Amino acid sequence: MIPICKPPRPKKKALEDIPFHEYKAILSYVLDGDQNEIIKMYTSNIFSYDGDDKKTIEQKKKILEYAKRRATGEALQYILGEVNFFGYDYKTRKGVFIPRPETESMIDHFLHAIGSKYYNTKDYFWKKEHLKILDLCTGSGVVALTIGNEFLRWGKMGSHKGSFSTASIIGIDKSDAAIELANENKDLYKRVNVKFEKLAIPEELQKIKNNTLENEKLSKIISEADAIIANPPYVPRDSFVTEEVLYNEPHDALFSGNPDADDNGMTLAKSIIYHSQFSRARMLFMECHDQNADELSKFAKKYFDGVYIRKDYGRRKRYLQCYRGFRNLRNLNLKEFLAQLPRQLLQKMLYK
Ligand SMILES: C[S@@+](CC[C@H](N)C(=O)[O-])C[C@H]1O[C@@H](n2cnc3c(N)ncnc32)[C@H](O)[C@@H]1O
Repeated sequence: MIPICKPPRPKKKALEDIPFHEYKAILSYVLDGDQNEIIKMYTSNIFSYDGDDKKTIEQKKKILEYAKRRATGEALQYILGEVNFFGYDYKTRKGVFIPRPETESMIDHFLHAIGSKYYNTKDYFWKKEHLKILDLCTGSGVVALTIGNEFLRWGKMGSHKGSFSTASIIGIDKSDAAIELANENKDLYKRVNVKFEKLAIPEELQKIKNNTLENEKLSKIISEADAIIANPPYVPRDSFVTEEVLYNEPHDALFSGNPDADDNGMTLAKSIIYHSQFSRARMLFMECHDQNADELSKFAKKYFDGVYIRKDYGRRKRYLQCYRGFRNLRNLNLKEFLAQLPRQLLQKMLYK
């Protein structure tokens, strides 16, 4: 078995060791954002803070309880039960992966690509009306819901001629806890046209019979998608994972594949690329580990016409952007390049 690089269990820290911004987040949560109270409570010692009405006593108790839980290493997002992602508030809970800022950056790239004028032509990339978006490994559903929320916002602003507001989104995940939480998050944003389904993507690359996967429901959902986005578990088992992540979050959301085989965290990522060949999707966006981006990009070139590696805010190679039905000029040999050129130029002139 490949040993997970396992740091020791977090030691109980003193309350004073909680970072300033986390303590402030706890105060803000319990005191409901009341700035005067936050400043008063923060500048006085919490034990000697002299508000003694029933409400203040309750709040003091809560703040101490949360701070103690944080001091023992519990993730702040689980303690507060909420997270802000791409400007939207979502619920979080132990047992489900905590959404990360780097996934916000992937959504940024995704929205930029799907909304781009150049790519949205009638017969070029995808039709704009009634688009079907598939979010694989949806977890708490934040990716699917954020894309839906942004489409609604575009509609309200009147940008993109409002056409994306007719899109529907499906999020799938193999975890019951994740799908339950995703549905609770959906209740917070009832206007988003999103559905969550409990389905597992096979980790092994299945033999394809009549263009159908063994699981017919999954096969249908994948085949009907116009664009796919995924944040699969991709942590290499022997890479360093902080104690906080390792002892808080579900390992199924971090690692994939057989623990006995060294797959460098690419089993599910490769399976997603491979199984996308059943899909009519013209675009696949996937988050990955920076050390795997080059290998996954090479693998994806077998199934897609164009593959780009996108970077996060820290300039690390973190996302694959794969296209079908469009030849990435950089991937072509001279003959293919010359054959593509008139079409490319025409597209550019027409849809500038
Ligand atoms: C890294 S988390 C991503 C969650 C969410 N998309 C986000 O960005 O916050 C990966 C998710 O993949 C799910 N997962 C792992 N293996 C899976 C499989 N074979 N099929 C479907 N979902 C899987 C886990 O349950 C987990 O929720």
